[in-house]
Amino acid sequence: MPIRTVIEPFKIKTVEPIRWTTREEREPILARAHHNVFLIPADEILIDLLTDSGTAAMSTRQWASMMEGDESYAGSRSFVRFEAAVRDIFGYKHVIPTHQGRASERLLFTCLCKKGDVVPNNTHFDTTRANIEYQGAEAVDLVIPEGKDPGNRHPFKGNMDVEALAHLIERVGRERIPLVMLTVTNNSGGGQPVSIANARAVADLCHRHGIPLYFDACRFAENAYFIKLREPGYAGTTPKEIAREMFALGDGCTMSAKKDGLANIGGFLCTNDDALAQQEENLSILTEGYPTYGGLAGRDLEAIAVGLDEALEEDYLHYRISSTAYLGNHISAEGVPIVQPPGGHAIYIDARGFLPQIPPARFPGVALACELFLEGGIRAVEIGTLMFGAHAAMDLVRLAIPRRVYTQSHMDYVVEVILEVWKRRERIRGLELTYEAPFLRHFTAHLTPV
Ligand code: F0G
Repeated sequence: MPIRTVIEPFKIKTVEPIRWTTREEREPILARAHHNVFLIPADEILIDLLTDSGTAAMSTRQWASMMEGDESYAGSRSFVRFEAAVRDIFGYKHVIPTHQGRASERLLFTCLCKKGDVVPNNTHFDTTRANIEYQGAEAVDLVIPEGKDPGNRHPFKGNMDVEALAHLIERVGRERIPLVMLTVTNNSGGGQPVSIANARAVADLCHRHGIPLYFDACRFAENAYFIKLREPGYAGTTPKEIAREMFALGDGCTMSAKKDGLANIGGFLCTNDDALAQQEENLSILTEGYPTYGGLAGRDLEAIAVGLDEALEEDYLHYRISSTAYLGNHISAEGVPIVQPPGGHAIYIDARGFLPQIPPARFPGVALACELFLEGGIRAVEIGTLMFGAHAAMDLVRLAIPRRVYTQSHMDYVVEVILEVWKRRERIRGLELTYEAPFLRHFTAHLTPV
């Protein structure tokens, strides 16, 4: 019998203590934070599942490479290594480093979009949408209908609705669509993957109309591994080969290396378009930095170059996808409603299903996030009515898992805490707002229980 236990494919060389708190201590902490987990100091959190972005543990190889960082302003040796590592996987002609994903988005949309344009995506991440809207253009989400149904177990719930895209192109006209984007995996839609077949259908349609296709590639390695597991014909292909095949369908990408770059900061922008690259580099010089560092230190470029490769290692991806599913399956088996199937980087609890007595206007996702903190010092994030206002289609609580940071016993603890809250769910009440900022209110809002 083959051994079935999935283990962390690493040994731990450096440890960071976490601070225990008691429930009695957490009550005043939550009150001081106005029932908004963004306002809790990180030192007062036991297990932090706020985001998988910039929170990865780096490897010995990454730390060693950082000592080789070349901090030259122009033509740094670290840039040469970074560019080669990115090209090896992504294959695009121009590689422009940036300080993080949203900086890549700003450069791309400033150069490509103007007022009145329309940019389709499977689902835009909030910074992507905001950067498009900042140019006066419209961001349109066209994920397949299965992608909006939490219980539906479609294997590629991140896929784009190709027919809806064709209709959109017909309706608004090719000249108003400067690019189409595909987000892999689809973060806002539950960390769900996009298949190669879907990416190919989207690419074919775009190219028939002469529209460039760009990938929002943040979690490309997790997406590639889902393809290997689920798409017919890919079981014998490596994640790197799959990633190359996918990116070959597009014309460029934006990337936050804080996710599948396994780095704490950084990103990049790629394109095959010479004239566009020149424009983007000129804009980068104005606000990001010279195009061979783009706002990053040479050592950051080194860490990303190594991290991109490590993120594609099969034993890492097997552990990564299995440990996320482990959390999702254990709570789902006890009846906790989650977005199915488990995503790559996070588990999303359906807070309206968990707390049906709390109407959306009383923030069931925030109520659940507060209870997870009170019960076990866990920080998760609401993605629902507080974040999106009355237009929120769902109230979800995202448990995002930092890469290589927590072990299986940490996840067992998280499962136990969630199930304790599940047992007393009928007694949980909603909240009301006492302060809100005019935009992006979820980061700073104050709330009080009602
Ligand atoms: N695109 C997607 C799909 C993302 O998930 C993010 C960030 C970005 C772009 C922007 O990248 O943060 O480097 O500027 N997502 C983080 C999260 C913040 O928690 O999901 P960035």
